[in-house]
Amino acid sequence: MVPSLNLRLITIDGPVAVGKSTVGLLLAEKLGFQFFDTGVIYRTFTWKALDAGLSPLETDALIQLAHATAFQFAPGEGARLAVLIDGLNVSSLVTAPQVEQSVALIAKIPEVRECMVAEQRRMADDHKLVMAGRDIGTVVLPWADLKVFLTASVEERASRRYKEQLERGGDTSYATVLADLQRRDHYDMTRPVSPLKAATDAVILDTDGLSQQEVADKIYELAMRPDVGQ
Ligand code: C5P
Repeated sequence: MVPSLNLRLITIDGPVAVGKSTVGLLLAEKLGFQFFDTGVIYRTFTWKALDAGLSPLETDALIQLAHATAFQFAPGEGARLAVLIDGLNVSSLVTAPQVEQSVALIAKIPEVRECMVAEQRRMADDHKLVMAGRDIGTVVLPWADLKVFLTASVEERASRRYKEQLERGGDTSYATVLADLQRRDHYDMTRPVSPLKAATDAVILDTDGLSQQEVADKIYELAMRPDVGQ
């Protein structure tokens, strides 16, 4: 099957560690699209803010920094688009615990979000894209051709993230990962601006018990429906 020529934008939203990034990449590769994980833009900005010595509570300084920051997008691994901040690729640093702890606090600041959203839209103008995040279907690209919202139980998400961190050589416990994930979910769902929620026209997919390939295949089937992208 070949995707409709008009199909350009697919959004995948959902909570922490639901598999958006792996699923989005598999899907993009199958469609011949590019994949962008918008969490990376928030993480990259958080890395820059911490590197500049700012705390997540210094709202005014963070807003100024967001306005003064230049992002570029470059081809990354496979179909993935990488984010450069002021010309630097810091992707290996953005999963550091300090970034993990601060990112949801910084992502709550509406003026910082406005800058990040403008960058995400700029990229969507130029590519056939699968874009993953929290507010892509609701705020960033409400005009997308297909919107998917992934769910999974908090225990399943915590055990996936825990395994990933162990594989990367991390030294953590399941309880720590679970607590961090619940804290970030809470911030993401309760923030007044762009909270994590499904768009009213999103397809909701429960991923408990499914492999990431199975989830990607289900979304691919949705993308092939004759009404999508028309
Ligand atoms: O998806 P990931 O866990 O890498 O995202 C890191 C953080 O960035 C999230 O916890 C959330 O606070 C923020 N984020 C967001 N909106 C997005 C993507 C990520 O607020 N579209």
